[in-house]
Amino acid sequence: MVLLKRNLKNIISKSIKCYSSSSIKVDIDAKWKRAKPFSEIPSLPMLPIIGTAWHYMPVIGRFRLDRQNEANHEKHKRFGDILREKFGSLNLVMCFSAEDLREILRNEGTYPHRVEFTSIKAYRESRKHWFSTSGLLAVQGEEWHHLRGKTQEHLLKPAAVLKYFNSLQDVAIEFVQTIFENRDSNNEIPNFVRELYKFTLESVCYVGLDTRLGCLKSNLSEDSDGLKMINAVLAQFQAMIKLEAFSGNIQYWKYFSTPTWRKFVKYSDMYSEIAFKYINKAIIDLEFKKDEDKMTLIQALVVNKKLDVKDIMVMVADFLMAGIETTSHSAGFLLYHLARNPDKQQKLYEEITKVLPTKDLKMTTHMYEYEMKYLRSCIKESLRLNPVVGGTARILSKDAVLSGYHVPAGTLATVPYHELFRNERYHKEPFKFIPERWINKEKDFDPYSFVPFGFGPRGCIGKRLAELEISLFVTELIRNFTLEYHYEDIGVKTLLANVPDKPLRFSFIER
Ligand code: HEM
Repeated sequence: MVLLKRNLKNIISKSIKCYSSSSIKVDIDAKWKRAKPFSEIPSLPMLPIIGTAWHYMPVIGRFRLDRQNEANHEKHKRFGDILREKFGSLNLVMCFSAEDLREILRNEGTYPHRVEFTSIKAYRESRKHWFSTSGLLAVQGEEWHHLRGKTQEHLLKPAAVLKYFNSLQDVAIEFVQTIFENRDSNNEIPNFVRELYKFTLESVCYVGLDTRLGCLKSNLSEDSDGLKMINAVLAQFQAMIKLEAFSGNIQYWKYFSTPTWRKFVKYSDMYSEIAFKYINKAIIDLEFKKDEDKMTLIQALVVNKKLDVKDIMVMVADFLMAGIETTSHSAGFLLYHLARNPDKQQKLYEEITKVLPTKDLKMTTHMYEYEMKYLRSCIKESLRLNPVVGGTARILSKDAVLSGYHVPAGTLATVPYHELFRNERYHKEPFKFIPERWINKEKDFDPYSFVPFGFGPRGCIGKRLAELEISLFVTELIRNFTLEYHYEDIGVKTLLANVPDKPLRFSFIER
C-alpha cells in the first residue's frame, strides 16, 4: 500500500513537472515570438559617432553627469520601463523594472561580465611587479572566476567576517570617542564625510592589512602611513571620477598621459607602497604563528589558498577601492535618515539599550546576529532610499527579452538602483524612511526590487563586512548621542558613487 501510494505520488509529480515544463516552454516561445525588435526600443536622439553621450555634455546636453539619478527619473517618466542609448560604439539599454533585472541576472552565465573600471585596469597592468592580475573590479571571464574563488570564502561566510568582530568594534568605539572630543561649539564635526572615510579606511586596513593605521588619531603627522593612505585614497577617487566618465567611449588618457592620469598613478603608487610593506610584514609574522584560529585574513590566504604577495596586493587594493566610499556614504546617509526621523531614531535607541542596558557593556556576535532586528531594518531602509552604487550593469552574454523587446548579446544592460528602489510599484510610500517595512515584509515582495549589494556570483564580496562596520558604528553612536540635522534637505550627487550633495552637518548631543 505504501509502495502504491509512493508510485502514485511519483506519477502525479512527474506529470505535474511535465505539464509545467511544457507550459513554461510555450510561455518562453511566445515571449520570443512576441518580442519587438531592438531598433524599436524608445531612444534619446542620437548623433553620429558619439550616440547619446551628447545629452550629458555641458551647454548642449540636457542632463548632468553628476545628477544621473535625476536624469534617469526623467527618462523613466518619458520612455517607460526601457530605453536605448549609445555611447560611441557601445549599445546600451537602461531598464527600470525588477522583472528585467531578474532576466538580466538569470542570463548572466558562469562568468558575469560587469563593465570594468578601465583606470584601475590600466594602472595595475602597468605595475606588474606589484599586481599579478587587475583584480575583481577590472577582470572578466575565467581570470575573474579564479580570483573570486580564492578570496570570497574569507569574506562572504558569516562566520568568516565575525572573526573581525572585536577588531572592528574597537575601531568603531575609537571613532565615536573622536566624535566626543572633536565636536565644535555647535556640537558638529567639521567635514564629517572625511571622518567617515578615515573610519572605513581604518576598518578595511585592519581586516585587509592586519594593521591599525592610526587614521583616527588627531594630529596625524604628514609622513604617517595613516595620513598618506587617506590622502592617496581621496586623490584616487577624485581622479577616477574624471577618468571613468563615459565608460566605453573616448577616454583621452588612454592615448596620451593627461595630468589627471598622472595624478591617479602617483597616488596609486603611494598606497601600493604602504600596502606592500604591511603585507610583507604579515607574511613574515606568519612564521611565528601555527594556530590557524589566530591567523589574520592575509595569513589564512597564504596558508590555505597558497596566495602570494601579488595576489594579496590586488585583493587589498580592491577592498580599498570598493569598500571605502560605499561604506562611508552608506553610513552617512543612514545617520541623515535617523536625524530626520527622530521617532525611528528613538525606536533604534530603545532596541540598543534593551540589548545593552549600560554603557560599559559591549555588543557580542550573538547580539549582533539575533537581537538587532530594528538596526538591520534601518540599514536596509537607508540603502533603499540611498543606494550608493549606481546599479547593475552587465554585458549580455546571450540574447534576452527585456520589457518585451529583443535585446542582442553584447549589449550593455543597466538597471539604476535609485529609480528601482524608489518605485511605488514595488515599495509603498517609496520616499519615506520606514524601517518597519523590512520587519513586516509584504507577501508579494519582489527580491529583485531591492539589491543594494547586487546579486548572484558577481554580487558584492564585502557585503557582510560593510554591514558589520556600519552596525557596530551606528550602535556605538546612537547609544551615546542624539543625532540632529537642522539644515537644507540633502540630495544625491553622482560621482564614482551616489554621494550626499551637501555637507553632513549633524549635531551630536550627548545622551
Ligand atoms: C554599504 C557598502 C557597500 C555597498 C552598497 C556595495 C555594493 C556593491 C555592488 C552593488 C557591487 C556590484 C555587484 C554586481 O555587479 O552585481 C559591489 C561589488 C564589489 N564590492 Fe561592494 N559594496 C559595499 C561595500 C564593500 C566593501 C566593504 C568591500 C570590500 C571590503 C566591497 C568589495 C566589493 C568588490 C571587490 C566588488 C566586485 C566583486 C566582483 O566583481 O566579483 N564592497 N559592491
